[in-house]
Amino acid sequence: MTQTTSDAHILVSMTYISRANPDMSHETLSEILKQAQENNALNAITGMLIFNNQYFLQTIEGSRSQINHLLRCLLKDERHYDLQLLETRELKSREWSRWSMDLASPAMDNTALYLKYSTTTDFNPYLLSAESIRRLIAEFK
Ligand SMILES: Cc1cc2nc3c(=O)[nH]c(=O)nc-3n(C[C@H](O)[C@H](O)[C@H](O)COP(=O)(O)O)c2cc1C
Repeated sequence: MTQTTSDAHILVSMTYISRANPDMSHETLSEILKQAQENNALNAITGMLIFNNQYFLQTIEGSRSQINHLLRCLLKDERHYDLQLLETRELKSREWSRWSMDLASPAMDNTALYLKYSTTTDFNPYLLSAESIRRLIAEFK
């Protein structure tokens, strides 16, 4: 993408949730992850993606223009829908600097973790407050 370099020092983080399309396959998930890791490495975007068959929860961090560009792409991407923004904020330093995109797949072994932040044992980020989601994400670091 074309980016004005002038905002490259303004580091922001954005967290959103979305619903995976019902026909989401392992192959599609692998494609998304590969695309994310390759693009993000080029665009100096870092972050993490949680997926659990139905829901995505993603934090991306990078320059403000890059993050806004990616948001526009994500809104058009038909592999998921009902994207809800949870949080955008400026960062002093990255929290996921070691990952171009780290995939965490919440599974059964994380049941206790979901219970810790919600009233249910399954992972439904649409039922969690932004604060609970922030704490949950921190557990995956
Ligand atoms: C849940 C989800 C997460 C994604 N995460 C990223 C990402 O971190 N970085 C990225 O470049 N594309 C990501 N994508 C893909 C973008 O929506 C879009 O398809 C892609 O950026 C377009 O890249 P291209 O210009 O190389 O075709 C994601 C898509 C989905 C459905």
